[in-house]
Amino acid sequence: AATTTYQAENATIANGVVEANHAGFTGTGFVNYDNAVGSAVQWSITVAAGSTSLVFRYANGTTTSRPMTIAIDGATAATPSFAGTGAWTTWTTASVTATLTAGTHTVRATATTANGGPNVDELTVTDAGDPGPPGT
Ligand code: GCU
Repeated sequence: AATTTYQAENATIANGVVEANHAGFTGTGFVNYDNAVGSAVQWSITVAAGSTSLVFRYANGTTTSRPMTIAIDGATAATPSFAGTGAWTTWTTASVTATLTAGTHTVRATATTANGGPNVDELTVTDAGDPGPPGT
């Protein structure tokens, strides 16, 4: 399998801003979603065919979940809750699994409540289809 990390700050952001004021993020920052329904981050990912793991790294320093719709190529794949993590500097992950064809796909994480999304750091994608080099 091949694992690729896609930073949120390098993705397409719809109603959110890149910030770096809460420690523990990877890359150069994270996306602070606007506190509104419909704020979103969209990645373009490239995978081999088969079962694919999508791991969203996030922080939610409130005690209220920040649910988002995860859409792949425009179709809802999952609706994780993105529960509170205790602090904006405490990062954890939410995972979604999907079966994808080989090639490039869009992954869009859209907030569904007026609080907007959590702060999102990165998306790590592991595909099952790529066997990798011999011996691995
Ligand atoms: C605070 C926090 C932000 C967060 C925001 C929110 O302002 O500093 O990082 O995004 O709350 O509630 O969404």
